Order: sequence, then C-alpha cells, then structure tokens
Amino acid sequence: MKSLTYLTASLLLIGVSVQSQAASIYAGKAKAAAVCAQCHSIRSKSAEAPFPPLAGRDEEYLETALKQYRDKTRVSEIMNNIAGSLSDRDINDIASYYNRLEP
Ligand code: HEC
Repeated sequence: MKSLTYLTASLLLIGVSVQSQAASIYAGKAKAAAVCAQCHSIRSKSAEAPFPPLAGRDEEYLETALKQYRDKTRVSEIMNNIAGSLSDRDINDIASYYNRLEP
C-alpha cells in the first residue's frame, strides 16, 4: 500500500511539472530544423507539394494533426512514422514554434 501511495504521489508530481512548463519554442526550433524541415522547410508559405507548409499555421491545428498521425487516426505512411516517435512535449514545442513563424 505504501508503495502505491508513493507511486501515485510521484505521478502527480510528474504531471504537475509537465503542466507548469510552457511549450518551448527553442526546443521546437531545434526539433523542426533537425527533422521536419527536410520536407516541410521552415518558413516557406508554400512548401513544395506534397509537403504542406507549417509556418504560421494554427497551433492547435498542428497539435491535433500530429497527435492524429501519432495514433494513426490520420493516415500517412511518412507522417505516421515520424509522429510515432514524438512525445506530447515534442508536439507542443514544435507546434508552438511553427505557429510563431511568419511565413
Ligand atoms: C519525409 C518527409 C516528411 C518529414 C521529415 C516530415 N513530414 Fe510532415 N508531412 C509529410 C507529408 C508527405 C505530409 C502530407 C501527408 C498527408 O497527406 O496527410 C505531411 C503532413 C504534415 C502535417 C499536416 C499538415 C496539414 O496541412 O494538415 C503536419 C502538421 C506535419 N506534417 C508536421 C510535421 C512535423 C512537425 C514534422 C517534424 C517532426 C514533419 N511533419 C516531418 C512529410 C514529412
């Protein structure tokens, strides 16, 4: 019982610390440059087909799209693979970074 209480308490703590960290556009920038930019570029308004542009897009839209790719409710072989390795944190960081970019 004691260890269960401890586990619950640590889970709560983890939850709190994740919640209290705002999305980091700096972390998002690094991740975007390392991975996403290969196909989507960074600022271009019209990234080349078939890669949709991401700069300046709605943050919530980007987050939702990435979570859908991750859980495969939106199907794209490429994006399912890429989003599959992203954490919630990564998704928040990257979405907030692209959202703040002026295309
Ligand atoms: C190997 C190329 C490639 C890479 C790398 C890549 N993408 Fe994609 N991405 C695509 C393709 C192709 C599509 C269109 C898929 C579809 O039709 O749903 C897409 C679609 C998307 C969409 C949906 C856009 C919309 O208009 O609905 C988002 C959001 C997205 N990618 C984000 C990312 C992020 C964030 C990364 C980096 C973590 C990334 N992509 C890396 C190829 C790539």
